[in-house]
Amino acid sequence: MNIVANPVTEANQTVYLKDYQKPSFLVDTVDLNIQVYADYTKVSSILSMQRQTAGDLVLLGRDLELQSIKINGVALDAAEYQLDSEQICIKNAPDIAKVEIEVIIHPESNTMLEGLYQAGDLFVTQNEPEGFRKITYYPDRPDVLSVFTTRVEADKKYPVLLANGNLLETGEVGAERHFAIWEDPTHKPSYLFACVIGDLAVLKDHYVTSEGRNVALEIYAIEKDIPKCQIAMNALKHSMRWDEEHYGRPYDLDNYMIVAVSQFNMGAMENKGLNIFNTSCVLADEEYTTDAAIMRVQSVIAHEYFHNWTGNRITCRDWFQLCLKEGLTVYRDQSFSEDLQSAAVQRIDDVEVLKAHQFPEDSGPLSHPPRPDHFVEINNFYTATVYEKGAEINRMMATLLGKEKFRQGTDEYFRRHDGQAVTVEDWISSLSAGSGVDLSAFLNWYNQPGTPKLTAHGEYDASTQRYRLSLEQSLKAHAKYPNLKDLPIPVALALFNPKTGEQYTLNCAALIENGVKDGVYLLDQQSAVIEFSGLSEQPVVSLLRNFSAPVNLEFNYSDAELAFLLQHETNGFNQWQATQTLLERILLEDHPAQIYIDAIKQTMPNVIAQDPLLASRLFDVASEGYLASRIDQDYQPEVVHEKREALLNALATALGEFCKETYLSLDVAAQADFSQAMGVRALKNIMLSLMARQGDHQVFDLAHTQYQDSSNMSERVGALKVLVWNDAPQAEQALQDFYHRYSDEALALDQWFMIQAAHPKATAERIAYLTSHADYDLGTPNRIRSVSGGLNANPINMWSFGVAHFIDLAKYLDEKNPIVGARLLQQLSRWYSLAEPQRSQTQSALQALHAQVKSKNVVETLNSMLAV
Ligand code: ARG
Ligand code: ZN
Repeated sequence: MNIVANPVTEANQTVYLKDYQKPSFLVDTVDLNIQVYADYTKVSSILSMQRQTAGDLVLLGRDLELQSIKINGVALDAAEYQLDSEQICIKNAPDIAKVEIEVIIHPESNTMLEGLYQAGDLFVTQNEPEGFRKITYYPDRPDVLSVFTTRVEADKKYPVLLANGNLLETGEVGAERHFAIWEDPTHKPSYLFACVIGDLAVLKDHYVTSEGRNVALEIYAIEKDIPKCQIAMNALKHSMRWDEEHYGRPYDLDNYMIVAVSQFNMGAMENKGLNIFNTSCVLADEEYTTDAAIMRVQSVIAHEYFHNWTGNRITCRDWFQLCLKEGLTVYRDQSFSEDLQSAAVQRIDDVEVLKAHQFPEDSGPLSHPPRPDHFVEINNFYTATVYEKGAEINRMMATLLGKEKFRQGTDEYFRRHDGQAVTVEDWISSLSAGSGVDLSAFLNWYNQPGTPKLTAHGEYDASTQRYRLSLEQSLKAHAKYPNLKDLPIPVALALFNPKTGEQYTLNCAALIENGVKDGVYLLDQQSAVIEFSGLSEQPVVSLLRNFSAPVNLEFNYSDAELAFLLQHETNGFNQWQATQTLLERILLEDHPAQIYIDAIKQTMPNVIAQDPLLASRLFDVASEGYLASRIDQDYQPEVVHEKREALLNALATALGEFCKETYLSLDVAAQADFSQAMGVRALKNIMLSLMARQGDHQVFDLAHTQYQDSSNMSERVGALKVLVWNDAPQAEQALQDFYHRYSDEALALDQWFMIQAAHPKATAERIAYLTSHADYDLGTPNRIRSVSGGLNANPINMWSFGVAHFIDLAKYLDEKNPIVGARLLQQLSRWYSLAEPQRSQTQSALQALHAQVKSKNVVETLNSMLAV
């Protein structure tokens, strides 16, 4: 065989959407035989291929040891194909080709957690987006769909042998080894292939679909974690029902398996019938995991399940279309979660994530459209923009259409494209045809980057009792995307009578009905003016209810009007949004804090009594990191920190005894359901931390008692944070106790690392202590993220000694696990906004790193980050 080296430069590695070409060969069937041994794995494959268009037969492969290749029974000799580090290319292949290949791979030393890898005693796969080419040579692209039969063979010390589809046969191979053969009847792309080999216990259940199919449900985990799989199992059954009821989509196979693995780059993966999950996204138990983690488990279970229709049965034509499946599936899981807890709180939580991650990403050097038009490494595009902004685009269309028409649109999408690999255009055309509403303008949201600014201005005329609202959109120029187009922006709004606090019935012809509860206006040009009549007083306007569009709103509210909305808005999301806007003015524009403090003092007792969960969110004060993302130059972490501390201290002082009274009166046990209990726990923790600010030493006793007496992780962790972050006398002892209590619980230990790394006064020495701890493990992304994520919670630390921590990690992971390395590095992407000398220091550190890294992931990320 002849190996041709591939010179690595960004120019020749960039892939463009406009260059898409159909594959020249399709694969009808694949037979895989995967034989796992201690120090190597042999993969044999038989592909039945058929020519579709003119061109070479190309099989993609990376880091494979090729043993042999045959076409139609005849071994190829070296002159008949070209092999390089990325592919085998066969010229003049016959139109019908049975390709037989044998390769050797090394899952036992695969640290990238991509392809087939060994994690402790478990062998698992992660093939999205381009991992299958690390298992064998294959047309590893999502528009090649095939039927897979998989034989897995391993030592009997691994009793569990799983692959996609139905189990056909099991048997022994000599005394020591055994095998299983699985057949997946559905046509799928290679990124959805999965297999698992290991020693795991299983939780079993079943579900009967609306079509009467009895589906066996199985969740695999290590024995001691099986009790922690019950919440996930319930969420799975709930998701299956939910997709039938809301989208008319029943499940299509006789089994659905989920496997929990502790070493995983991302959250989870929707492999057909055999999901593989990060333990953090499947294990849920009030004793061992926090409420936030429990909510996340349920949403990720739903997310991966929903992919079965939006992603698997209808997949992406190419990886530029990633947001087609991810944006839609996130929108679906968000809607599912809105049914699990209060819809307003779920929306608050989702928008918080959007604003904390996607908005900053979209305003900095990593900004890209939800559907990018070029990339070097597709793994770098599993971003907040693709996922979260992608979901927002779907939500805007759903808001505009209303429930019924949106459903007609999705029905049409499933009717037209089931079994196909499609594009964003196909989705928009189906939705338009099915609903009868032309949505083609929404394509612009997919194709261009940036968060639009929506400027609104109101004028009231008392003599005519009319109110004119003018709206205007604008986008910041983007170097790589010069021709930005106007976007369709749905603006949900309500008007309030300032005297009575009541909502006006909207009298305005321009509003869209469509079964949408709030009045919605569609701004589909650069600017517009709408008029409301019959208003006896100058109204208070509440704009973008439920965050009806992912834009930055600028409206000349008075601080008093924002305080009014906190008290009188009936839309919980906009109550929250009003407090956040008020806070930004105080913290970033030096407005006085008193109005906010008074409004909170006045409003919260009522809200706490009625809806503790919503109340807990209304106490949110934007994080320092989020506030930083609103500052584009001369950012000084200390200044933001001090202002935020001053505000929280003033709030704590103003609330005084109220915090303790509230704390003592809140009763978790008296709550009707999990979501209310979750609200009470969150509030108790907020009250504790506000009391700690009042310098009340009794609070440490209360916290310590809460720490010891509670068997609930949210309460325990909440109390531990108060003790540790305030250097309480009990802190060290509580940390030790926590460590010993959970020494065998990886997810709880992640909390232990995180809390210490997130200490506001953490030092480089403290971080070094954590990263040299016996339980720190660079092979486990969750553990890495617990320390780096904790560090990231305090920008003062992050932008001083934290920079070296991130740079060292990126350097190490560049070789060992570049997917995770590049992601962590993205957290430094706002370096350019720092004031000097930190700006130049960080820039030099990044430039020095650039000279030392090789992976496409890290190099592409650094190139973008440094091009500001
Ligand atoms: N498709 C998975 C999801 O549900 C994410 C997989 C991403 N994997 C990766 N290596 N980038 O969102
Ligand atoms: Zn997904």
